[in-house]
Amino acid sequence: MPHVRIVHLALALALGLAALAGCGPKKRPDGTLDAGSTGAVTAVPTAVEPKADAAHGKELVAQFQCNRCHDGLAQIEPAPQNKHCVHCHRDIMDGKFKGKPDTIARWQPRVKDLQDAPSLEAAGKRMAARWLEDYLLLPVDLRPGLVQAMPRLDISREQARDIAAYLVAGEVADTAPAPRGDAGKGRQILESKACGTCHAFSGVAFLGGTAAGALAFTIDPKELPRAIRLAPDLRHVRARMSPKRARAWLADPKAVKPDTLMPKVALTESEITDVLAYLYNATLDVPPAKGVPARLAVLSRRVTFEEVDRKVFHRTCWHCHSEPDYAIGDGGPGNSGGLGFKPRGLNLSDYNGIAAGFLDGNNERQSIFAKDKDGVPRVVRALMARHAEEAGAPTGEVRGMPLGYPALSLEDVQLVETWIAQGRPRT
Ligand code: HEC
Ligand code: HEC
Ligand code: HEC
Ligand code: HEC
Repeated sequence: MPHVRIVHLALALALGLAALAGCGPKKRPDGTLDAGSTGAVTAVPTAVEPKADAAHGKELVAQFQCNRCHDGLAQIEPAPQNKHCVHCHRDIMDGKFKGKPDTIARWQPRVKDLQDAPSLEAAGKRMAARWLEDYLLLPVDLRPGLVQAMPRLDISREQARDIAAYLVAGEVADTAPAPRGDAGKGRQILESKACGTCHAFSGVAFLGGTAAGALAFTIDPKELPRAIRLAPDLRHVRARMSPKRARAWLADPKAVKPDTLMPKVALTESEITDVLAYLYNATLDVPPAKGVPARLAVLSRRVTFEEVDRKVFHRTCWHCHSEPDYAIGDGGPGNSGGLGFKPRGLNLSDYNGIAAGFLDGNNERQSIFAKDKDGVPRVVRALMARHAEEAGAPTGEVRGMPLGYPALSLEDVQLVETWIAQGRPRT
């Protein structure tokens, strides 16, 4: 009975994968199992690849707290102001945060680059489910003008698929190819309509900036800097959105996504066809390999805790790894848990917290200074893993820190490493 055996193998595989992902087979409301429950011979493909579950995806979006950075999630409110990583920073920039003017002025340069994340409104009218799934597993840099990045979350393939299903909200994939336009003309239109005011297009010749003549669009000058930060690199369009959706977008961005900052650009139907021909068919250069930089040798001068604390721990790390009592019971995602991470109990806000280390998978305390087989302290490994993530290189089991924020300069990593090598003096 070869068929039956195949079904069982597929079922075992599906269940095994689900169990590995820590989320077991899901029960349907009628009590049957989701994975391979039909048991029919024809069900082999479904058993291997269970159907994405949008309702579960919505639960996961709440669990991963995507609403602390992203607005525009269907049926999920933005996180309250005191938890919202983007709104709070933006309020500080816009002068809406209550506080002493000199304190606000001191904060502003720190949060200037942390005040934007794209809203996910109408994600399904723009982005393909498959692209979303891959992106959630391994985020790439989509916006050269945006410093903050999408953090690498602790997400399984199944979870990413369910979240993607929630985000696309029933929009079905359409696979029609790009219409046959004139890519050469399309390129000229991108230049003459000054799309490069906001967009980079990596892999092709530079688009140029603002057009000298009258612009083909209007935008409130106050909104322009944010529009530039939020404009994606057009390189990714062909993987992210179908030509049909890109056409609707170019015809009227706000009709697709009301909260978008992209203005409507005057384009005729045939101009759009030509632009699409270029967006989808232009030959893209392979991006130059960024390479993971090498660590600097430890310094010979003395490094005090005061210096590493001021320049690293109490500057950048502290915001996610703080003393819980101080922040109304929330020590940040790197201490009390959050963004889908379990509490790791790592308080980087003072010397004792740093010395106490973090909780491992078995809830046992581990030192952040413990050396790995190459003699690299765990915390230095985490700082270099962020450099590796930014370069698109594999990083191994240690997650890059600071999570989703620019890697520390090599000089700052050197400072941390030197302080550790000098025996972590308290003064
Ligand atoms: C700490 C803040 C933060 C959290 C939490 C976060 N994101 Fe993001 N996300 C970002 C930023 C910043 C970007 C823009 C990155 C870029 O353009 O390179 C982004 C980009 C994205 C994009 C691409 C959107 C676009 O228009 O290009 C998607 C989709 C996305 N995030 C989904 C999610 C989901 C789903 C979750 C929760 C599972 C999540 N994000 C959690 C900050 C966050
Ligand atoms: C209630 C307001 C508020 C919220 C909520 C908030 N922040 Fe901040 N954040 C600040 C302020 C104020 C600063 C600058 C403080 C300073 O310089 O000491 C800051 C700075 C930072 C920095 C340091 C930037 C640097 O200089 O290196 C990071 C990283 C950061 N925040 C991440 C986050 C993340 C992630 C979240 C959500 C989990 C978050 N913040 C939520 C107010 C907030
Ligand atoms: C004033 C700034 C601005 C100009 C000018 C502009 N765009 Fe955009 N564009 C944006 C922003 C911002 C987004 C992201 C929208 C969002 O997520 O809300 C965007 C999104 C897009 C997208 C969807 C990309 C994706 O990966 O999701 C395409 C395609 C696009 N623009 C093409 C163009 C073309 C072609 C032109 C010129 C005809 C142009 N844009 C002019 C700001 C601009
Ligand atoms: C945006 C929030 C955020 C910022 C900023 C941040 N962390 Fe983390 N950190 C986390 C989270 C969440 C975890 C738990 C990750 C996990 O469980 O895989 C963590 C875990 C860690 C760990 C231990 C876990 C391990 O497996 O190695 C170290 C060490 C660490 N962070 C160091 C730092 C340092 C040093 C900085 C500042 C340069 C920093 N972090 C900044 C969120 C953050």
